[in-house]
Amino acid sequence: MLSTHDQAAVLERTAHLYSRVKSVIPDVEWPLHASYIDAINELKKERNAVVLAHNYQTPEIFHCVADITGDSLALARRAAETDADIIVLAGVHFMAETAKIVCPDKVVLIPDEKAGCSLAESITADDIRKLRQRYPGVPVVTYVNTTAEVKAESDICCTSGNAVDVVESLGTDSVIFLPDEYLGKYVALQTDVKIITWKGHCEVHERFTADELEDYRSRFDGLTIIAHPECPPDVLEAADFVGSTAQMQAFVHEKRPRRVLMVTECSMSDNVAADVTDVEFIRPCNLCPHMKRITLANIYDSLRTLEPRVEVDPAVADRARLAVERMLAVGK
Ligand code: 13P
Ligand code: SF4
Repeated sequence: MLSTHDQAAVLERTAHLYSRVKSVIPDVEWPLHASYIDAINELKKERNAVVLAHNYQTPEIFHCVADITGDSLALARRAAETDADIIVLAGVHFMAETAKIVCPDKVVLIPDEKAGCSLAESITADDIRKLRQRYPGVPVVTYVNTTAEVKAESDICCTSGNAVDVVESLGTDSVIFLPDEYLGKYVALQTDVKIITWKGHCEVHERFTADELEDYRSRFDGLTIIAHPECPPDVLEAADFVGSTAQMQAFVHEKRPRRVLMVTECSMSDNVAADVTDVEFIRPCNLCPHMKRITLANIYDSLRTLEPRVEVDPAVADRARLAVERMLAVGK
């Protein structure tokens, strides 16, 4: 426990960070976060470490200890570019695996190894081998929300931010698109390429309903609804804009809607609201239990102990890297 004197110094050192999040973190809660934030930022310098945080991390992580923030695509790109020796991935396991695949020589830490993803759990490498037998010659496009073994069996990866471009980059009449059925159906609406889907779903986004959105529209005048493409098709149809988490964030920054409802994970609205104070956020809140396993306390522990580390079998990583690098080359 810090002495009162130390606590005052911590609050002074972190005051500039609190000013970033004060619209979304009550001042009574700030001292609880400030000591960890101060200690994490100090340890990062000592260890030459960076914290990469996904848009669904809580504001005290996203705005106060992260060096790099973004959607899955940005995190994969920026992991490949960093000079740091250590990457702490404040996100879920597949994101940390992707960082390890693109940076095999760096130490990649995930503060809680149980931070999984219902999409990543919905398909195995063996499922892909069977699909290839069933659809010979049809390329396999795999959403990054998958394990390294699944990526290794794929021709190319994609994220929600580049799925249409990736599918069209292949120049084929059809593709096998895995594992997110709803993202696959959404891509099918934007392209002439035939999309063969799988029955994977995000446990967070599949809970939103079109009726719920219509109810919000009827209750809030002038509401702009923006949704993540992991939502069911009727939800996407009821939205005014559909995009990856980074595209949703950019939409609010650029268009400055009077009132917005972000149909996605809870922390996303908090993180955007901290920056954009002239927009009113209506928040139907669906939490991702996996993203929420990451806390300031376990980020601090993982930087201190340099555990738990994410390891990927080098032979699997070499094959998975080809699929990730092909994706990163699209749109360059
Ligand atoms: P983004 O790539 O849009 O950030 O999505 C990742 C994710 O897990 C959404 O549920
Ligand atoms: Fe996976 Fe859905 Fe959580 Fe994203 S929000 S990590 S897709 S379970």
